[in-house]
Amino acid sequence: MPDFYKPGTFAACSLVVLAALSGCDQKSNEATVADTVVTPAMATEQSLWPRVQSAVKKDPAIEAKITELLGKLSLEQKVGQLIQPELRLVTPADVTEYSLGSILNGGGSFPGENKHAKVEDWIALADAFYNASMSTEGGRVPVPVMWGTDAVHGHNNIIGATLFPHNIALGATRNPELIKQIGAATAAEIAVTGIDWSFAPTLAVVRDDRWGRTYESYSEDPAVVKSYGGKMVEGLQGVAGADLLSERHVIATAKHFLADGGTEGGQDRGDAKISEEELVKIHNAGYETALAAGAQTVMASFSSWQDVKMHGNKYLLTDQLKNQMGFDGLVVGDWNGHAFVSGCTPVSCPQAINAGLDIFMAPDANWKELYHNTLAQVKSGEISQARLDDAVSRILRVKLRAGLFEKGAPSTRELAGKREVIGSPEHRAVARQAVRESVVLLKNNAQTLPAKASSKILVAGDGADNIGKQSGGWSITWQGTGNVNADFPGGTSIYQGIADAAKAAGGSAVLSVDGSYSEKPDVAFVVFGEDPYAEMQGDVGALIYKNEASLALLKKLKADGIKVVSLFITGRPLWANNFINASDAFAVVWLPGSEGVGIADVVLTKADGSINFDVKGKLPFSWPASPAQSPLNVGDADYKPQFAYDFGLTYSDKIETGLLDETAAQVVAANAPDTASIFNQRVMNPWTLVLLDHMNNMLPVTTSRGELGAVVVSSEDKQVQEDSRRLQFNGTAKATVSLGSTTRTDFSAYAQSKGALVFDVKVNAKPGTAVNLGMYCGSDCVGEIPVTEQLNAAAVGEWTSVSIALECFAKKRVKMDMVLAPFMLSTAGTLDVSIYNVRIEKNATAPACAE
Ligand code: BGC
Ligand code: BGC
Repeated sequence: MPDFYKPGTFAACSLVVLAALSGCDQKSNEATVADTVVTPAMATEQSLWPRVQSAVKKDPAIEAKITELLGKLSLEQKVGQLIQPELRLVTPADVTEYSLGSILNGGGSFPGENKHAKVEDWIALADAFYNASMSTEGGRVPVPVMWGTDAVHGHNNIIGATLFPHNIALGATRNPELIKQIGAATAAEIAVTGIDWSFAPTLAVVRDDRWGRTYESYSEDPAVVKSYGGKMVEGLQGVAGADLLSERHVIATAKHFLADGGTEGGQDRGDAKISEEELVKIHNAGYETALAAGAQTVMASFSSWQDVKMHGNKYLLTDQLKNQMGFDGLVVGDWNGHAFVSGCTPVSCPQAINAGLDIFMAPDANWKELYHNTLAQVKSGEISQARLDDAVSRILRVKLRAGLFEKGAPSTRELAGKREVIGSPEHRAVARQAVRESVVLLKNNAQTLPAKASSKILVAGDGADNIGKQSGGWSITWQGTGNVNADFPGGTSIYQGIADAAKAAGGSAVLSVDGSYSEKPDVAFVVFGEDPYAEMQGDVGALIYKNEASLALLKKLKADGIKVVSLFITGRPLWANNFINASDAFAVVWLPGSEGVGIADVVLTKADGSINFDVKGKLPFSWPASPAQSPLNVGDADYKPQFAYDFGLTYSDKIETGLLDETAAQVVAANAPDTASIFNQRVMNPWTLVLLDHMNNMLPVTTSRGELGAVVVSSEDKQVQEDSRRLQFNGTAKATVSLGSTTRTDFSAYAQSKGALVFDVKVNAKPGTAVNLGMYCGSDCVGEIPVTEQLNAAAVGEWTSVSIALECFAKKRVKMDMVLAPFMLSTAGTLDVSIYNVRIEKNATAPACAE
């Protein structure tokens, strides 16, 4: 039996579904029946994977129509259905010319690149694309185009839309019915703009909260994700047999298949090094219900499972998802995700289609090249006619089920252009309910909360009156940055909600971001926490919240004898014991979105001083007892969180929380030696020497010689046997030699002590063209410094030393506390160098950073 199934390694009863199976006491947190976690399907050992019956059955009329269309479409038209360009780089004329099957607008992409585009602009553009797809010009067969968007917490690219709390907050509500209402409200707002398809819900079961997309996950507990997946799909798409894909609904996407939340170290686009059992039991949980509810599309994950990129994983996309789980809709790729499959580039990847991808998300300007290459690959047989027809059938099936052939132009549909539906009072009321149900109370000494609405209240902190900050990533812009309150018309900040409630009860609230006051308040709410981020940019090396100014403010207010309540905005659990200790009450508000008013509903009393709404939220993720405690998940063998999964005080709990341990934060890299060796006669732990080519192929070199594409590495003797490495680039293509690891290393102590990356080098033949030295900490977390001049200046055949200040990498957005590869030498030209003693040194002399 794999570890995962060992009784006791999984606190079975804390997981709702498993508790239901075993009938054990949910509160006891202990498995009482050894086999509670083995479902009947698994027990038979037939397949680990479930069979799923979709509520959306095959309709003979639709199947006949698919066959008819397949007979009429030209090869070119079929290939066009597989290509999905991005709004910024596609025109209606392209849709006609290439018979494009779909388009998307990425996060922060708007009609005319205008963030303030109006509903009419969206509709007009949707009509233009639709009409282009229905053209019969030159005898083409009309097939309606589909437009997809990331409406991941409401229709979040649209000014004025209702922004629901992010998924992590919804997880805290434990309210599946509410999820369905949110889905329905979101679908209606999308329908107003004429868009057909949402890239949601995210069904990631995030297991390492250092991942920047933790907030897109409902819970670390597969049972919660399972209980929500189907509900969100029903809300978005409508219910089979009732209102499925009516004009008030949109196509849903279950994403990102599979184990996006299971990557090693929580690395974005990383590798899930987990067993198949874990893949199914943990990460597939949400898909079971989403597919059963009839989700029509699934998005492949950027990530890998056991080193195979999902976009190229036939076993999972075809054998399990489509065949075993019976998924008959379409698999869409993620943003150029195919380009990372080994042997692929952004413009050529028959491997992905052959693995079971049906649509390439091709957001770059070169999508036409991808189209031509794919067409050629079908003609040459590299992609079979049968696979092409299957992909096109699936795309047509989804379009037919969605009624796109009958609905007519977007502007003619039921909700089209109805601006009043966007951010309607009904939708905002649903969001407000979600906000108040999601608040998790970690500490409430002396029953500080709920605070009397009739009292004198101070509202402080940079999150107090900041709708952008409380909304997080995927809010108008992709990373959620660069917004002001005016970008959320109709929304309320947390301060505004508190101020309105206080006023109505005869109290008062003063906004003071820095916490200064002239009249001493009865209570201070300090709203602080993480600034917005989205994928890639949100990855962190440690689960810690640091902000000296906020901490000082809490301490000052408390010293002034004021009751201090922290309202913590965050997309993940973060070690914050020092902040908790400095507060009388500490509530996690997550990322509530546009209806900040929902916070006041819980934290303030009614006018008469009685409880307005009790706190309901329960932690959907375990809260760490130290910044290094990740992964940390309920059911872990040695589970010692600060606050356990499912924790959350209510107003009837009269618990006094003592001082929490604050020492854990100080361990960070204090005793780092002066030199961290990366290569010293041999490759040091935890690093590996890896060769990379321009087609995503990688070769770890563990012997004395390795060759990949344009580069050869071999051992050389400087002083003793094989104490250095010779790197020879032949100039036929770009190649990289890297020293990297799959786990992160914290070099911040070096960065703080004038540290540098230093290595000895002997130039055997000078560079033919530019050479870069890079440091890497994840996608969009990479800095490259040109070293061409230094190499050119070195005397051929002589050893010399090169230093680059860590600061120079940091300036190029490398985060020094989470380095994955400290040394990556790359060039597309010829180069022959030997390297020796690669290290990171404190107090090193290095040239100033080039601007
Ligand atoms: C994200 C997806 C998203 C897509 C389109 C990708 O980078 O991973 O979640 O749907 O972009 O914006
Ligand atoms: C897009 C996002 C996308 C991301 C991925 C951004 O430019 O707007 O939608 O997910 O790139 O790289």
